[in-house]
Amino acid sequence: MAVTDPTQERATPPHERLVVALDVPTLDAAAGLARDLAGEVGWFKVGLELFAAHGPAAVEAIGAYGPVFLDVKLHDIPTTVERAASRIATLGVGLVTVHAGGGTAMVRAAVAGLGDAGRVLAVTVLTSMSDDDLASVNAPPAATQVPALARLATEAGAPGLVCAPRDLTAVRAAVGPSVLLVTPGIRPGDRDVDDHARAATPRQAAQDGADLLVVGRPITRADDPVVAARAIAAELP
Ligand code: C5P
Repeated sequence: MAVTDPTQERATPPHERLVVALDVPTLDAAAGLARDLAGEVGWFKVGLELFAAHGPAAVEAIGAYGPVFLDVKLHDIPTTVERAASRIATLGVGLVTVHAGGGTAMVRAAVAGLGDAGRVLAVTVLTSMSDDDLASVNAPPAATQVPALARLATEAGAPGLVCAPRDLTAVRAAVGPSVLLVTPGIRPGDRDVDDHARAATPRQAAQDGADLLVVGRPITRADDPVVAARAIAAELP
């Protein structure tokens, strides 16, 4: 997708702000979901499981139905990341994740490697890490670290960031309006929160500054994924 200005995303129809996480065991199941949801959502997220199993073929199969967000969270020395990103640039993906914690040179390398083929999203701190977990690796608490890593990554050229709903307000304040903010942990008001400690509703996340909302199970495990996606889009302001 050629859009580079997040304000354009904010102006797109609500359903185009939805990213469906295709976290299903087989490529057939993922492609079936993508086929059913083509035109109903803005992006399809291919994660490590599908990519590890099927590699570029997964991107090709899913890309037939809409823009692909490749969630591989690159984290390595800058040369390796740049070379991986330049290979990813040939696959036809619009969004690719890296870890902001890889540092300025690594984020710059990812941006250089991907070039104009897509946009790099930097992941600040994994929400699976509690402050105790962070302390155990001598890292500061998330409230300190997330805005700092968000600034580092955007100053290194990342046009977008992935953060938890609870961090959206602080991250938006840290990086300003021109950075694309993507958030998982979205649950419609009437839906169980699954394993998310702090889920947000689609409306709340959008109000707090999210441009794109990553939704997996509430759509992929619904009796009718299309009905579920439409209901979530209808909750967006
Ligand atoms: O099914 P669910 O809506 O929880 O899926 C959320 C998606 O976002 C999954 O692909 C998951 O890996 C990803 N994610 C997350 N929480 C994070 C980072 C990524 O749920 N902190």
